[in-house]
Amino acid sequence: MLGKRILLGISGGIAAYKVAYLIRILKKKGADVKCIMTPASSDFISPLVLSTLSNNPVQIEFWDRKTGGWNNHVENALWADLFVIAPLTANTLSAMSVGACDNLLLATYLSMKGKTIVAPAMDLDMYAHPTTKRNLALIKSDGVLVIPAESGELASGLDGEGRMAEPEGIAKEIELFFSSEENIHIQKLKNKQVFITAGPTYEAIDPVRFIGNHSSGKMGFEIAKEALNQGANVCLVTGPTILSLSHPNLQLISVKTAKEMQEVTELNWKHADIGIFSAAVADYRPKNEVTEKIKKSDENLVIELVKNPDILAWAGQNKLPEQILVGFALETNNLLENSVKKLENKNLNLIVMNSLQDKGAGFSGDTNKISILDDRNKLINFELKSKPEVASDILVTIINYSC
Ligand code: CTP
Repeated sequence: MLGKRILLGISGGIAAYKVAYLIRILKKKGADVKCIMTPASSDFISPLVLSTLSNNPVQIEFWDRKTGGWNNHVENALWADLFVIAPLTANTLSAMSVGACDNLLLATYLSMKGKTIVAPAMDLDMYAHPTTKRNLALIKSDGVLVIPAESGELASGLDGEGRMAEPEGIAKEIELFFSSEENIHIQKLKNKQVFITAGPTYEAIDPVRFIGNHSSGKMGFEIAKEALNQGANVCLVTGPTILSLSHPNLQLISVKTAKEMQEVTELNWKHADIGIFSAAVADYRPKNEVTEKIKKSDENLVIELVKNPDILAWAGQNKLPEQILVGFALETNNLLENSVKKLENKNLNLIVMNSLQDKGAGFSGDTNKISILDDRNKLINFELKSKPEVASDILVTIINYSC
């Protein structure tokens, strides 16, 4: 919280006295605090207490009665990294929910581009009233973070929900806000579009049988999760898998066959900054898809196969200069030699290599052992790691490559 500028709005309720403690906590943590009070709140706590503790003048009205100077709400809002309104009374809440601004605190709220956090405080019946609930829902939908009131003894003598959260709890929420905000700033793939293929493909022989492989999709899903953590928008196209994933920045498309995966890729690849093709696509499919179950008859059954589209190679042929394309190579032997060929033939920037000869590496397990080769001939070998760690290694390598 060191150096953070916190604007503290105080509206007129008995819980206003607790704000003195809140200011002390915030100041101890190194924040710069300025207070704006509604006129009614100065009946509950003296502005002198707040100006002394915050070490800043307190503003109550649009102009200073002593100097005639303008208390500029726009400047207040621009100054603040965060606006905290505590206590938030039912009256101020209702004004916020409709955009009323007949005092300095409300005008500052409307001018605020950054985050506002509120800590409501009122008597239990007021807090439980449908109007209050509706207004809280409204300001939440406007992006305000609400620290719910707590249960306990109230100024009215009644006992119930409506007490303002304790200053320590409010300070904790403020700290949380600043730490998650910092996390957002270090997200390396913010605003990037990442296209990922994952899982196996199933190529139908007849209505009950297919040609497939042991791919679980885990690697691709872990890469998707890591890309989302890094702030990317992800389009994940997956063959049949039991895995699932949901995230506001994720578009998950399920397919069965290589042809379907190819169609999705043709539609989406052009929008991507980065493509990571981890799917274990079946190279061949039965030439004729039989619509009825094949009955057991002769000693031998011959199924003619035809080549599937090479989806990664297609993406390489249709790659824009600024796009980064990453393929996988799973080999049983001659790993490096075969990977170099795939890197060149498919026009890749990087290739993630894994050998089925390495214990713990490959398809369906929870671990993998990879090496990554790029088109500048840089080779990085990694230890055997869990798939989430491997996903993180892959993305860090891609990010470093693109910088
Ligand atoms: N790949 C693809 N479409 C295919 C086959 C493979 O997109 N029809 C992609 C895989 O997702 C992987 C890379 O190509 O990123 C390499 O796959 P792999 O099966 O190791 O190699 P192949 O090119 O199929 O060659 P081979 O099977 O002969 O090793």
